[in-house]
Amino acid sequence: MVLKGFLKVFVGVVLVLNFCDGIRWLSLQHSNIKWNLTSLNEIGGRGIRSGIRSPCGVARRRYGLAKLQTKLCRATMEAMPHVEAAASLASTTCKTIFQNRRWNCSSIDKAPFLTPELTRATREQAYVYAISAASLTFTMAKACASGSLHHCTCANPPKEPPGENFKWGGCGDNIRWGSNFAKKFVDTVEKFNAKSTRDDDNLELQQEIKTYHDRKMAKLKGHIATINLHNNKIGRKIILENLKTQCKCHGVSGSCSIKTCWKSLSSIDDIGEQLLRKFTTAKEIQKRHVLIEGKDGERNLPKNELIYLMKSPDYCTKDEKLGSVGTVGRRCNVTSNGTDSCRQLCCGRGYRTVVEEKIERCQCKYYYCCYVKCKTCRTFTQIHECS
Ligand SMILES: *[C@@H]1O[C@H](CO)[C@@H](O)[C@H](O)[C@H]1NC(C)=O
Ligand SMILES: *[C@@H]1O[C@H](CO)[C@@H](O)[C@H](O)[C@H]1NC(C)=O
Ligand SMILES: *[C@@H]1O[C@H](CO)[C@@H](O)[C@H](O)[C@H]1NC(C)=O
Ligand SMILES: *[C@@H]1O[C@H](CO)[C@@H](O)[C@H](O)[C@H]1NC(C)=O
Repeated sequence: MVLKGFLKVFVGVVLVLNFCDGIRWLSLQHSNIKWNLTSLNEIGGRGIRSGIRSPCGVARRRYGLAKLQTKLCRATMEAMPHVEAAASLASTTCKTIFQNRRWNCSSIDKAPFLTPELTRATREQAYVYAISAASLTFTMAKACASGSLHHCTCANPPKEPPGENFKWGGCGDNIRWGSNFAKKFVDTVEKFNAKSTRDDDNLELQQEIKTYHDRKMAKLKGHIATINLHNNKIGRKIILENLKTQCKCHGVSGSCSIKTCWKSLSSIDDIGEQLLRKFTTAKEIQKRHVLIEGKDGERNLPKNELIYLMKSPDYCTKDEKLGSVGTVGRRCNVTSNGTDSCRQLCCGRGYRTVVEEKIERCQCKYYYCCYVKCKTCRTFTQIHECS
C-alpha cells in the first residue's frame, strides 16, 4: 500500500515525485492532537490496534506520518508532544535563517504536502532534512534532561576526564538518546525507501515496476532516499559537534572552590547558522556516485557536507513545477547589499516604493488620578517591493 503511494508519479514537463515521506512529519507543527493515553480508552471495542481514532492513527491519516513512524508513535507516545515541538522548531529556525533570501523556506509550512524543491533532492531539501533531524535531536535531548520522558534522563557524564578544577556533574542534555530517537523516527522511512528499490524479493514492488519508466523512477527514489539519509546524519552530527561545557560554582560564599560541569546544547539559531554555511558549500553529487546497493551507500559521499542531486532554480520567477514561488511582491532593502538587497532579491527586475501609513497611540500622558491619555500619531515609512 505504502509503495503504491511512493511510486505514484505525475508526469509533467518535469516529474514531480511523490515518495519522500521523511519530512512529512513536519506537518505536526499544525496539529492539535491530544497525546494522552486516556483518549485511547475512549475508542469503543476495538482497542489500540484499530488505530482509527488513536492519536497516532490521526497523525498518520491527517499529518502524513509514515507507517513506521506511526509504529514508533504508538511505542513512545509520551515523546510525541516533543516531536510536535521539534517540527515547530525546525520550521521557525529554517524560516528565520532564510527570511532574507529568495527561497525563504515558507514551503515548509505546506507539509504534509511537499513542494517539488523539497522532493527533488535539491540543496534546499538538504537543508530542510538536516535542520529537521537537528531539531528533533535537540528537542529530545532537552526533553530527557528536563525529566519529561520516562524513557530517558540526563546524559551520562562524558568519557573525557574532567579538568583540574572541576568534576562532571549536573544534568547534561541527553544527545545520545535524542540522536537515536531522531535516527529512528526520521531515518526509518528513508531506509525503507532505499531498501525497497533493491529488494528483488519484494513481489508487490516487482509487480509495480513493470515498465522501464517505472524502474527508472524506483531507482531515482533509492538515490534520493540515500541522499536524505546522509543529510539527516549531518543534521544530527552538527548537534554533537556543538556541545558546550557549562559549569556551576559551589563552595563557601561563592568561592567557586568546587565546580561541577556538564555538556549542553548550543542554541538552535547557532545550529541553523552553521547549517546555512554547509548549505552554501553543499556538494552536487552525481547519481552514479550514490550507491544504493549494499551497506556501502555512504562510502563515496563527503563526510561533513550537505549533498544534493539536482540543481536548484534561481527562485526569481514563479515555476510551480520546480517549487519556485518567485519574488514578485517581496520586501527588499535598498541600503543593503546582501541577499535581502533589492538588487539581489528582485533579480534585476527593479522594485516599486510604497509608502506605508501606520497609526499608533503616542505622546501618552498620565493624569492624576488615574488615567492615561494618548494622541494618535501617523507615521509614514517607505517600503520597497520587488516588481
Ligand atoms: C487527556 O486529554 C484530555 C483532553 O485534552 C484532558 O482533558 C485530560 O485531562 C488528559 N488526560 C491526562 C491523563 O492527561
Ligand atoms: C517568503 O516568501 C513568500 C513567497 O514569496 C512570501 O509570501 C512571504 O511573505 C515571505 N516570507 C517572509 C518572512 O519574507
Ligand atoms: C537594510 O540593510 C541595512 C544594511 O545592511 C541595515 O542596516 C538595515 O537595518 C536594513 N533595513 C531593514 C528594514 O531591514
Ligand atoms: C557591500 O559589499 C562590500 C563588498 O562586497 C562590503 O565591503 C561593504 O561593507 C558592503 N556594504 C554594506 C552596507 O553591507
